[in-house]
Amino acid sequence: MAVQRIFLTGATGFVGSWLLPRLATGPGVEVVCPTRGAEPTAAPMGARFVQADLERPDTYAAQLEGASCVVHAAARTGKARASEFERANAVATGELVERAKAAGVARFLFVSTIAVRYPDKRAYAYARSKETAEEIVRASDLAYTIVRPTVILGGRSPLADSLGKLARAPVLPVFGDGRARVQPVHVRDVAEYVAALVHAGRFVRETIDLGGPDVLTLEDLLRRMRVAARGSEGPVLHLPVRLPIAVLSKVEEPILGLLPFTAGQLSAFVNDGLCAEEPPEIDGVRPRTGVDEMVADWVGGLG
Ligand SMILES: NC(=O)c1ccc[n+]([C@@H]2O[C@H](COP(=O)([O-])OP(=O)(O)OC[C@H]3O[C@@H](n4cnc5c(N)ncnc54)[C@H](OP(=O)(O)O)[C@@H]3O)[C@@H](O)[C@H]2O)c1
Repeated sequence: MAVQRIFLTGATGFVGSWLLPRLATGPGVEVVCPTRGAEPTAAPMGARFVQADLERPDTYAAQLEGASCVVHAAARTGKARASEFERANAVATGELVERAKAAGVARFLFVSTIAVRYPDKRAYAYARSKETAEEIVRASDLAYTIVRPTVILGGRSPLADSLGKLARAPVLPVFGDGRARVQPVHVRDVAEYVAALVHAGRFVRETIDLGGPDVLTLEDLLRRMRVAARGSEGPVLHLPVRLPIAVLSKVEEPILGLLPFTAGQLSAFVNDGLCAEEPPEIDGVRPRTGVDEMVADWVGGLG
């Protein structure tokens, strides 16, 4: 039997660990997963982890041979210097595109972020690096799909952890007026949607914003998390946001480890993170999980 090979980056990460079992669906599929770390203990059948660093293309190039598509979900996330975001997210994506082409892999799915839509990304090096990566993918002659998830919650969401720290504080701190809107999407829905695109072979040079069914303000989300965790709303304290963003963006790089938030991460408090259009349904699949379930997932994981 001919085996379909998928090259999946980021399989050890938050999103990738939900995506991998939905791509490794049976004996006819092999999913090759480059990682710099250890192979996860509970990898599904059909997954093959290889030691590789996307910033060193020679470590993975041979593994692209014979692949039917690349699913590129790896990224530098969280706190890092602008140069590190640029190298890991933009430069490494460019290398991956070139190596995929050289190996004859014509289909490329890139997991980007809704933050690319933020009108002002000057303080958000991560968003700029993902935007550059999108441009590289779009300028290639590959058959691509770019998926831009909004805030991903559910499971052990790192973002829910960070927001949860605010939500559980004795006084709820809200940066700015709290009116920036979010459209959270469950990690299971993201994984199912990306897998549906791959299984449907939908690589038609399109960009899809991927959000859940509910739109609410960031303050409302924090309040809901707070009520779920503490049982009541309690006091809210609005804090300045534009000045901290301006100051942090100039001084933060040497002290990133000491900061609770970076200028870029604070950008979510001043920019809407919404889909421009609803994602098209792919073989009956589109995000349907509401915010209540995502908040319940987060509270359930608190222990
Ligand atoms: N989480 C969200 O709310 C969210 C929202 C919108 C978009 N996204 C996007 O969704 C994707 C997945 O995000 P995530 O939250 O799952 O990230 P994550 O948990 O931080 O995982 C990052 C993954 O990238 C891999 N990686 C990073 N640098 C690498 C390198 N040089 N070589 C090989 N692998 C490397 C890591 O693998 P190893 O450490 O094993 O090497 C890990 O598997 C990213 O593209 C991100 O931009 C995330």
